[in-house]
Amino acid sequence: MLETPPGADDNNAAPTKPHQGEGDSNLSPNRKSWEARRGGDNAGGALLDRDAQYFLHQSLSTPCLAAVKKVEGIWIEDIAGNRFMDFHGNNVHHIGYAHPRLIDAIKRQLDDLPFAPRRFTNAPAVDLAEKLASLAPGNLNKVLYATGGSDAVDMALKLARNYTGRHKTISFWGAFHGAGFGGLSVGGESLFRNEIGPLLAGAEHVAPFACYRCAYGHDAPDGIPDLDACKMACAGMLRYVLDKEKDVAAVIAEPVRSVPYIPPPGFWQAVREACDEYGALLIFDEIPSGLGKTGKMFVSEHFGVEPDITVLGKALGGGVLPIAAMIANEKLDNMGDLALGHYTHEKNPVTARAALTTLQIIEDENLVENAAKVGAQALSRMHDMKDRHPLIGHVTGLGLLLGIELVLDRADKTPALDAADRIMYRCLDQGLSFKTTMGNVLTLTPPLTLSIEELDRGLDIIEDAITAEEN
Ligand SMILES: Cc1ncc(COP(=O)(O)O)c(C=O)c1O
Repeated sequence: MLETPPGADDNNAAPTKPHQGEGDSNLSPNRKSWEARRGGDNAGGALLDRDAQYFLHQSLSTPCLAAVKKVEGIWIEDIAGNRFMDFHGNNVHHIGYAHPRLIDAIKRQLDDLPFAPRRFTNAPAVDLAEKLASLAPGNLNKVLYATGGSDAVDMALKLARNYTGRHKTISFWGAFHGAGFGGLSVGGESLFRNEIGPLLAGAEHVAPFACYRCAYGHDAPDGIPDLDACKMACAGMLRYVLDKEKDVAAVIAEPVRSVPYIPPPGFWQAVREACDEYGALLIFDEIPSGLGKTGKMFVSEHFGVEPDITVLGKALGGGVLPIAAMIANEKLDNMGDLALGHYTHEKNPVTARAALTTLQIIEDENLVENAAKVGAQALSRMHDMKDRHPLIGHVTGLGLLLGIELVLDRADKTPALDAADRIMYRCLDQGLSFKTTMGNVLTLTPPLTLSIEELDRGLDIIEDAITAEEN
């Protein structure tokens, strides 16, 4: 155990236990061992040192793990030539890194039209809006772009406030919706919210669905809910708060939580009905999970529920350029006398070209179908692994958003925090990169291009690391 308590004067103080949230921390003892094992030069020493010198330190990034030299397909290569299959990729690498068709399209767009100042539209921006409207479910036909997901979330919140004339929101504890004040306010993780003063007023939270670890006291041993017993208390609580407040502008949530946790059957229908009854909008944040990751182009398609607004980001730029989008029901197009998405790169032709080409690649290479197929195979193999390994308490997933939850004891479900952190570094040693979520969930989000062979290779590495931990 480390001696410096968290929150002590030293800004870089190591916490006494692994962080339980969005991602793994760079302050854990296992991280120190990994650094010692690899040796400075092997990991890209001098560059890492300069990185740590000049960037503000943050527990989920700087100081960094290694210095990257090349990304291609599913692979990351560090400057010492070590290669890692990337089962994380910040959820940007749906089409694989550095897809040649995308790189070529971006280069040509740079030669053709590199920028369009506000008040001038351009063909790639309009083509992309048209494409997004044609792909998105139902009446989601009106689009605005931003450079990042956090800004797209902000736009969605502003639009919902303006349309309803209300300002309150309901969202989930444990969620991440971005690093700006809007996203942080509706997000529910202390790592991002604490020690920065007041956030947006009216941002209310409820405990999210999590059938394996139900905050409403209805833990399902295998994560399969007994709806007769629990009466879907999680959806009930959302309705309860909507009813108590009566003036909520919007419910905002990830339709499938990035942990990942999948909602109980009927959850979103129940929430949609409650939103309609109380005049609140429903905003789906599909920033990490949209565009095919879950085996459907939009996550909402799994649940037969149409939100009023969907936000996309991350993979929309093909893992090369930053672009996010808000797609809204056309009935919300009521702010023509105000400015909602007044961003410098509001209609950037190069980022729009990247997004348009990415969508074309996803379609032409049948990547959504591949994610569904390979994801189903992954889940089946993960269930087999669970039968063999007591350390695995729960496996879950939808498409290629997959999670293996580690516990010290299946009965009491104590999170195996240290084991998960150690396993993650063991896998890195063997050339596989992924992140942990909540401290004990091995969260796997490989690209949509994943082949069965790559899947097997990745899961072999994970299973070996789990076996080593159990022995
Ligand atoms: C669910 C969710 N919403 C919003 C964001 C913010 O996106 P960005 O980092 O592009 O601002 C993220 C980023 O991780 C996310 O996972």
